[in-house]
Amino acid sequence: MQTLYFDLRDTKGPQKGIEEKISAAAKILRDGGLLGIPTETVYGLAANGLDEKAVKRIFEAKGRPQDNPLILTIPGQQWLPRYCRDIPPLAYVLARKFWPGPLTMILKCRTDVVPAVITAGLDTVAMRCPAHPVTAAIIREAGVPVAAPSANTSGRPSCTTAQDVLEDMDGKIEGVVDGGPCSVGVESTILDLTCDPPRLLRPGGLPLEDLERLIGHIDVDKAVTRALSAGEQPKAPGMKYRHYAPKAPVTVVTGAPDKSAQEILRRVKPGDGVICFDEYVHLFSAQEVHSLGPSADKLAHSQRVFDALRTFDSSAVKEIYAQCPDNRGLGLAVGNRLKKAAGFHIIEADSTQVVVGITGGTGAGKTSALRAIESLGGKVIDCDAVYHRMLESDEGLRTAIHTTFPGVFSLDGKLDRKRLGEEVFGDKDRMAQLNSIVYQFMKPEVSHLLADEDYRLFAIDAINLLESGVDQLCDKTVAITSPLELRVRRIMARDNIPEQYARLRISAQKPDEYYRGRCDFELNNGADTAEAFEAEAKEFFGRLVETIKEEKAHGNK
Ligand code: TXA
Ligand code: MG
Repeated sequence: MQTLYFDLRDTKGPQKGIEEKISAAAKILRDGGLLGIPTETVYGLAANGLDEKAVKRIFEAKGRPQDNPLILTIPGQQWLPRYCRDIPPLAYVLARKFWPGPLTMILKCRTDVVPAVITAGLDTVAMRCPAHPVTAAIIREAGVPVAAPSANTSGRPSCTTAQDVLEDMDGKIEGVVDGGPCSVGVESTILDLTCDPPRLLRPGGLPLEDLERLIGHIDVDKAVTRALSAGEQPKAPGMKYRHYAPKAPVTVVTGAPDKSAQEILRRVKPGDGVICFDEYVHLFSAQEVHSLGPSADKLAHSQRVFDALRTFDSSAVKEIYAQCPDNRGLGLAVGNRLKKAAGFHIIEADSTQVVVGITGGTGAGKTSALRAIESLGGKVIDCDAVYHRMLESDEGLRTAIHTTFPGVFSLDGKLDRKRLGEEVFGDKDRMAQLNSIVYQFMKPEVSHLLADEDYRLFAIDAINLLESGVDQLCDKTVAITSPLELRVRRIMARDNIPEQYARLRISAQKPDEYYRGRCDFELNNGADTAEAFEAEAKEFFGRLVETIKEEKAHGNK
């Protein structure tokens, strides 16, 4: 088969010639053919989405597994009800703001209309409205929704130019439309709107932060940041396949650019391949190098990442090392593509550990703050849980308690917690005695837990953070506070208790002023919902972590 080439890079010239090419391309789709199309993200391989036979040919041409569903591409949100049902209002909020653009929404599917070959039999369908004037014109002219996965052969890096498409598809498809290089360079962000909160299935050309700014907290599917273990299923079937992979094994090195460049320099051998930022290209004169652009230019990284991976496909390098941008903005998508290419073989060059101490009274929002830390990849150490574990198993602590509170152990050595509680509650001196014993054992235990090499960020959650001396293990301490009336309402709702008891509970604790005056920072929770506060806390801690890292880096120099 001869693949026709439509040059539509320049659409400013004589309109007649342009319209003819658009009609010819649209006719290919209407006639059941396959067409390479430009989008702002990556090139797509399009077929009439309502023509089952044509759609099947996509799978053949790409060598794509049948269980991997396709995205349905439409010219605007007004087409959504034709193919989707139970569309939540949120879908329209998002479409109004981000369409046309690099956002794909997973919605409930009208299975009576959309062929099962598109959805791989799921009852949901991925909907996208790309921002490329040429493709928009072709789809409008064809008058059909278009099934369009990325145009690469399955397993290869996606195509960001028409030449890339020809490299993979020449002779297998009816035509390719050249609309110039893709302006974004990584695929669309996939957001599942069939769950609450919405879930990010694939990071892409629309940054997560932009989405969260508009709609609040979004869960991130675990397939985004780590390899899945055997038996685990990602929500986007395509995320389970090794993707974007050059022939040589890839190692991704994360961390501050200076640090990751040094780490790569320590490891590379002559003849290896390197993907790095502009500033470090000169370090690798004995290697084949592809630059991602300046380290601060995330759009450049996103435009170049597939090109770098693709070029290494046809190169004889033995191993490839890649510098990785941080997770903010487009960095999350670029890092995800690099890590997938590496089969999640990742080296952390930045060994800086950050420990944040978090304290504050009940109902202020500590739980949401801790969830924010976890969503930043951090580990939470819950001192209350640590204390209870130690009561069961730490012989040192148990002996010390036994000496001071002999009555609380039964004959077989079991600790009667209720009894211990009765001895100390309401007796200030006895409480102080118990606390001083516990604090003495708590700090070394927490210090031991901080030695977990798998985490670079820790939050220590303790109501007695400051009294126990555990604050000395922290880089910074943060008080979570909140207006009294909000706390009362939250506790009433959370614990299902009357107002009077909620107030009593708060007044039994130290007031916000106590924490405010003693911690390095205060994070005040005036948000209406836990989700909104969590999103706020995520921003706050993200910035705090960067600041602490910078302070530490300068201190070390
Ligand atoms: O930017 C893009 O989205 C590009 C351009 C061409 O539009 N397209 C693209 O398509 O990246 P593709 O097929 O390479 O990736 C689609 C991803 C796959 O991981 C697939 O598993 C997932 O979307 N997907 C499709 N339908 C889904 C569904 N109903 N539920 C969950 N994931 C779905
Ligand atoms: Mg793809």
